[in-house]
Amino acid sequence: MDYLEIEGGRKLKGSVKISGAKNAALPLIASTILAKNRVSMTNIPNVADIRTLLQLLKILGAQFELNNSDLNIDTSGVSSTTAIYDIVRTMRASILVLGPLLSRFGHCEVSLPGGCAIGQRPIDLHLKALEQMGANIEIKNGYVIAKAKNGLRGAHIIFDKITVTGTENVIMAAALAKGKTTIVNAAKEPEVVQLCEVLKSAGVEIEGIGSDEIAVVGSERELLEFKPVDVIPDRIEAGTYLCAGAITNSEITVENVIESHLDAVITKLNQMGFETETKNRSITIKPAAKIYPVEIVTSEYPGFPTDMQAQFLALALKAEGTSIIEERLFENRFMHVSELMRFGAVIHLKGNIATVNGPAKLYGADVMATDLRASSALVLAGLTAKGKTKVHRIYHLDRGYSKLEEKLNALGASIKRLKE
Ligand code: UD1
Repeated sequence: MDYLEIEGGRKLKGSVKISGAKNAALPLIASTILAKNRVSMTNIPNVADIRTLLQLLKILGAQFELNNSDLNIDTSGVSSTTAIYDIVRTMRASILVLGPLLSRFGHCEVSLPGGCAIGQRPIDLHLKALEQMGANIEIKNGYVIAKAKNGLRGAHIIFDKITVTGTENVIMAAALAKGKTTIVNAAKEPEVVQLCEVLKSAGVEIEGIGSDEIAVVGSERELLEFKPVDVIPDRIEAGTYLCAGAITNSEITVENVIESHLDAVITKLNQMGFETETKNRSITIKPAAKIYPVEIVTSEYPGFPTDMQAQFLALALKAEGTSIIEERLFENRFMHVSELMRFGAVIHLKGNIATVNGPAKLYGADVMATDLRASSALVLAGLTAKGKTKVHRIYHLDRGYSKLEEKLNALGASIKRLKE
C-alpha cells in the first residue's frame, strides 16, 4: 500500500492546472448508457473512481478507449444489466448506472451500496422516485432489483432532501421515459447542470436547468445522439489547492477553473484575510497579513460545499482565534478531526459542530486517511507542520485527486509517494 511522506514548512509558488471534475465526469459517463452513438469526452480526470466506473461499464458490455484525459465510449454493446457488488462496494457513485440502465432496458440489478465512512448515505430517495416513475423495486440478496417492463413514465417528484446523485439518476431515467418528469427540490450543483446541458444537446427537452425545479420530457426509449463533451473543471480540487496556498500562506494560482463555481469557497478565504484575484479562468490567492477565524456551515450548492469542510478545518488551525465549523450534510464527516489532533491541533467536537482553536503549533505525525476529502485535509496539515508527516491509506486520495503529489511538488512542496 502507498503512503505519502511530506516534509512540512515549505512555501509554495506558481500555478497549478485543475483537472476535470470527477463528480461531473461520473454521471456523464453513466449517461452514455443512453447514447446510440460513440461518445467522445475530454478533460476526464485521471482518478481511480473514473477507472472504477469505466470498469463497471466494460463488465456491462461497453467498449472504451481512454488516452490521458480523452475518452471514447461506445455502449451499444451493453447486454448485461447487473452492477456487481465487487465494483459498487469500492465506489458508491456506481449507483449512477441505476437510472440509465432501467430506462434503457426496462430492468436492472444494482448492488446496494453499504454505509460509508462519512455516514449512512441511503439511496431511498433514488428508489422512491423511480417507483413513482413506474418501476417495481425489490431488495434481494443485497441487490436493488428494478423492473419497468413497459418502460418508465413521467412523474411529479418532490425530493424530501436535496440529493445530487439522486437528482442525476432521475434526470437520466426521465430522459428515456414516456412523458414529462418534474423534479422539485432538485440539486443545483454545477455537475447536475452539466449533465442536463449534455442531455439537452443530445435532444432531450429539459427546462429549469440550474434551478431547484427541473422538467424533463423523455424520448420514450429512443436512444440519444450525444455531442462531444468537455467535462467542467473540478471546483473541489481547485478549492483544495487554494487551501494549500492559504495554509502555507503562499501566493499560488489555480488555472482552468470556472470562478463562479468557487464563490462560497472564495468568500470564506477572503473572510479569513486572504486576498484573491480572478481573471481568465484562473484564481490567485495571496498571503494574509493575519489569518482570521471563520464560521462555516456546509450546505447544498450554491452554499459552502461539504466536500471542502475538511480542508477548511485544517486551514482554521492557522487562524488567530476560534473557528466554528458545522457539518449539515453528512452525520459522520469529522473523521479527520482525531487525525488532525495527532499534529497537535486543538479541536472540540460536539455532534456536528467542530470548534477549532488557533493558531496551533503543528508537528509532523503519522496519520491515517479515512475518506477522500479527509485525506486532503491531512496533506494540507502536513504541508504546514514542522518536520515529517506520513499520510497512510492514500488510496482514498487517489479516488479523487489526479497526480496530487506531482502537482504540489511542482508548486514547491516536498512530498514522496512510498510503499508501506
Ligand atoms: C454527492 C457527491 C459528494 C458530495 C455530496 C454532497 C458525487 C459522486 N458525490 O454525493 O462528493 O459530498 O453529493 O454534496 O457527486 N440522502 C438520503 N437519501 C437518499 C440520498 C441522499 O437520505 O436517497 C442524504 C444523504 O445521506 C446526505 C444528503 O442526503 O445526508 C445529501 O446526499 P447526496 O447529495 O445524495 O450525496 P451524494 O449524491 O451521494
